[in-house]
Amino acid sequence: MEKYKIDRIQNSLKENVSEHRYIHTLGVMKAAVNLAKKYNEDEKSAYIAALLHDYAKNFSQKQLNEYMTNNNLYADEIMINAYQLLHGKVAAHIAKTEFNIQNDDILNAIEYHTTGREKMSKLEKIIYLADFIEENRTYHGVEELRKVAYEDLNKAVLQALNNTIKYVLSLEGLLHLNTIEARNSLLIEL
Ligand SMILES: [Fe+2]
Ligand SMILES: [Fe+2]
Repeated sequence: MEKYKIDRIQNSLKENVSEHRYIHTLGVMKAAVNLAKKYNEDEKSAYIAALLHDYAKNFSQKQLNEYMTNNNLYADEIMINAYQLLHGKVAAHIAKTEFNIQNDDILNAIEYHTTGREKMSKLEKIIYLADFIEENRTYHGVEELRKVAYEDLNKAVLQALNNTIKYVLSLEGLLHLNTIEARNSLLIEL
């Protein structure tokens, strides 16, 4: 992708997310490119997917719902209730329509970074994981996950999914079926 296109995305992102989110995004880009190098994935794809993954993260519930309705996007009951999950789907749609990203693997990596899903591609796994291990993250267990991330991609994604599931359970929150399916399919893959 041409540099001016990347600049355009970056400037637009800056206007749409908080500074905190922007710094997080830079961290995810760095981690995603490193993981792509390690696991022989296309670095450019990892870079673009990471750049756009949280484009809609600071949208309000109303903004997300309006975007979904205006663009005829489908959300299941869990997504409607755990509305933060929608920011992946909305960001993927913006990437396609606003920034003309046509690579389905990139679009899926953006869309499914919020839940994971069954049989994730390598790029999907990289973006999912980079989101958890980027350098600004400080939660308990992040050091261990960073280490595993550069040893075994599947094991690391499984660990990230387990952490997420435990966290959602601790909050008595809604768990999306995609997250369970992502975990099951990884366990079978391993
Ligand atoms: Fe996100
Ligand atoms: Fe993120």
